[in-house]
Amino acid sequence: DWTSDQFVEATVADLQKKLGDDKVVMALSGGVDSTVAAILIHKAIGKNLHCIFVDNGLLRKGEFEQVLDSYKHMGLNIKGVDAKEKFYTALAGLTDPEAKRKAIGKTFIDVFDEESHLLTDVKWLGQGTIYPDIIESVSVKGPSVTIKSHHNVGGLPEKMKLKIVEPLNTLFKDEVRLVGKTLGIDPNILGRHPFPGPGLGIRILGDITADKVRILQEVDSIFIGGLREHGLYDKVWQAGAMLLPVQSVGVMGDERTYERVVSLRAVTSTDGMTADWAHLPYEFLATVSSDIINKVKGVNRVVYDISSKPPATIEWE
Ligand code: XMP
Repeated sequence: DWTSDQFVEATVADLQKKLGDDKVVMALSGGVDSTVAAILIHKAIGKNLHCIFVDNGLLRKGEFEQVLDSYKHMGLNIKGVDAKEKFYTALAGLTDPEAKRKAIGKTFIDVFDEESHLLTDVKWLGQGTIYPDIIESVSVKGPSVTIKSHHNVGGLPEKMKLKIVEPLNTLFKDEVRLVGKTLGIDPNILGRHPFPGPGLGIRILGDITADKVRILQEVDSIFIGGLREHGLYDKVWQAGAMLLPVQSVGVMGDERTYERVVSLRAVTSTDGMTADWAHLPYEFLATVSSDIINKVKGVNRVVYDISSKPPATIEWE
């Protein structure tokens, strides 16, 4: 029978044998898979694992600093790279969802490539690929293929001639969490909702600007913070907010306003392939809605998405 203790012991021994004194470079995302994979490899080869965490300017509010801090606490050899402006420049004026994904993916590869070349003698590329990623990449619709190219930083291995090491590629998500627990990783990190590689870039419908990112970060932070405060965070699979390319009329005092609309999205699911909208309590939605409208300048209307997948998707783009 599979146990996470045995898995950790056997995998660390395998990695030591396979990697020897070689250097490994790896991009971390703050997500569960890449974190668990990195800690496993780190346990095997220590400082020979070089991690890179890129701020693409599309992360949640405060996420870059928080995640970087927690990686440092875990003892990882990690470099945070602020590439916000590069991403905003690459995205300027783009409105098509796939064009935005491509621009984000390409910019990511450029940044990662540049950073990796600052390291000498790297032989391996570490990745947090899990078993369902492998199955998913050969099935369904377009965006999944794109997902792979982001997750697995497609194109890099050929270009850099790196061999790939992916210690979690036989595991399912729940097994990854168990392994993470065995490795002593913070439960807050292991329990994190999935978050797409292109981040808020695909939750700002239409073109992306730093100002829109700031607005959406505030909205998202109130929503996610509210879910945590009300004990609802662990009851949903994934949650977030979409900034719609729509303005609506509102009223404040004697003034008419004409401002942005945001849609909140929270779903229940077991694998993200199908999902139902989360039946969040009305009182909670009321609190979050008035918090958002009162605190976030530029937003005067909040709606809640009650579509299930299929036929809708979890993200709006
Ligand atoms: P959809 O919107 O297709 O999303 O129902 C299913 C899951 O995949 C995530 N997602 C992505 N993840 N790059 C990623 O890394 C992407 O381009 C991407 N698009 C969707 C989504 O957040 C959900 O967890």
